[in-house]
Amino acid sequence: MSTLLHISASSRTANSRSRRLGQRASERICAAHPALKLCRRDLTQPFLPHPDEAFVEASLRPALNRTADDRAALALSESLIAELEVSDLLVIDFPMYNFAVPSSLKAWLDLVLRPNRTFRVTAKGKIGALADRPAICIMAAGGRFDGPQAQPDFATPYLRHALQTIGIGSSQFFIFDRAGRAQHQETDRDFDRWIGGLLRTIRPGHAPLRQSLPSSEPH
Ligand SMILES: Cc1cc2nc3c(=O)[nH]c(=O)nc-3n(C[C@H](O)[C@H](O)[C@H](O)COP(=O)(O)O)c2cc1C
Repeated sequence: MSTLLHISASSRTANSRSRRLGQRASERICAAHPALKLCRRDLTQPFLPHPDEAFVEASLRPALNRTADDRAALALSESLIAELEVSDLLVIDFPMYNFAVPSSLKAWLDLVLRPNRTFRVTAKGKIGALADRPAICIMAAGGRFDGPQAQPDFATPYLRHALQTIGIGSSQFFIFDRAGRAQHQETDRDFDRWIGGLLRTIRPGHAPLRQSLPSSEPH
């Protein structure tokens, strides 16, 4: 069974513009691929913990030397990674907070990007250990990215790079800027056109395979 992992990161729920478009994407994808199983991960209910000392020490320790406490400290990270490993495609909706991704999404990335687990460090740089799969990323922002009042966007290049680091290079971004002022109908029309175009290229159904890691680093 193929799985769509739908991740949401806005602190708002009912009035969230990123969640609204993420929901629209999810519904369109599931309608086009009725066999897809939907897995929801709301990063705000509950909020994920920051990486604490126990997590960082356990994460950096070679897997063969890990203690039971280390494994407990990594348990949440392991379950989030497992959700990713079985997903065939991703929808990630999130707001821009202070020019970057919200801390809810950053916390998820901190738990999911792990050396010798989801990427490895080589002489040629970091190599992702997960199979590539489509990632449909939707960001809502109150401000604008063009014209004299254009603001910098550290969020979408950062998320693209973070996903690439673990092997997910097929990310596509829809930026819903001036979200507070935009006409919903106009945005929905643009969004539906965008997601419709993407849907023609998406072929879920393959079982994603993880690239093998060095045998000295089981997890
Ligand atoms: C803490 C915080 C920081 C924000 N920082 C920015 C920002 O840097 N740039 C921007 O365009 N909008 C910013 N906004 C506005 C949100 O991006 C905007 O309200 C967006 O619609 C939020 O997404 P949501 O509707 O899914 O909750 C910020 C909002 C909050 C609450």
